[in-house]
Amino acid sequence: MDLGITGRTALVCASTGGLGYAVAAALAAEGVRVAITGRRGDVVEQRAAELPGAAGFVVDLADLTAVTGLLPRVEHVLGAVDILVLNSGGPPPGTAEALSDEDFTAAIDALARAQRQLVGAALPAMLARNWGRILAVGSSGVVEPLANLAASNVGRAALAAYLKTLSAEVASRGVTCNMLLPGRIDTDRVRLIDRARAEHTGSSAEEVAAASRATIPAGRYGTPQEFGQAAAFLCSAAAGYITGSQLRVDGGMARSY
Ligand SMILES: NC(=O)c1ccc[n+]([C@@H]2O[C@H](COP(=O)([O-])OP(=O)(O)OC[C@H]3O[C@@H](n4cnc5c(N)ncnc54)[C@H](OP(=O)(O)O)[C@@H]3O)[C@@H](O)[C@H]2O)c1
Repeated sequence: MDLGITGRTALVCASTGGLGYAVAAALAAEGVRVAITGRRGDVVEQRAAELPGAAGFVVDLADLTAVTGLLPRVEHVLGAVDILVLNSGGPPPGTAEALSDEDFTAAIDALARAQRQLVGAALPAMLARNWGRILAVGSSGVVEPLANLAASNVGRAALAAYLKTLSAEVASRGVTCNMLLPGRIDTDRVRLIDRARAEHTGSSAEEVAAASRATIPAGRYGTPQEFGQAAAFLCSAAAGYITGSQLRVDGGMARSY
């Protein structure tokens, strides 16, 4: 299928590794010029060099002042952004009972406020061109809140509500807003979480991963490539009538409708 996005420009947040890099690679394979972003300058440069037409930008998305300056920096090098992929590092684990006021605010800042700032900066040019794609990387926790990940559940719910509301406001003007809900995709973060759980329970990381796989109808973790391809489709011209949606990429893990 021709996705119809050759020559477009994408800003992919948090894309030096994991899901973000997989999305960037899938878009670059479609002929999209991609802005790679992350905190580690050497990795940003290395990743950008791997993808044709890509450029790297060092930014800490937890620093809202730096986030404000990101879009102009990208536009200066790559031109106006047609595709905005909102991704971020995952917040620390913890229960809702233990969530302090500061933790709550930090979750909103990291998972919704930075993203709203980027949308606010990119949207006017998308509307002026009558074409834009806004895609957020969420979590299965958006539909089934995850135990001991209260900060993540809170911040992602805020972003989901914002994007859903926005999607209806801009749908008639060529801009779509969607969210991908990964379950367990095989990235560094998931391996780290499995190792931490193994240490906590006194089992091996492989035992933890096997128990986790057993809860997934597909019987395995997803690959970053599978996730990237789902993202590339939602960012495509072919997906122009899909907006306000949440697509699960979880091998059937979330059991609710
Ligand atoms: N993998 C899954 O199955 C899964 C499931 C549900 C939700 N998620 C969520 O999806 C997101 C991506 O997950 P992942 O598995 O790809 O994680 P990952 O493998 O740990 O990769 C995280 C990426 O984010 C970048 N990053 C982290 N903090 C950043 C910051 N403050 N500013 C800029 N870049 C930052 C990292 O690059 P630098 O170190 O260079 O900054 C890296 O490229 C996370 O929010 C995670 O909670 C993932």
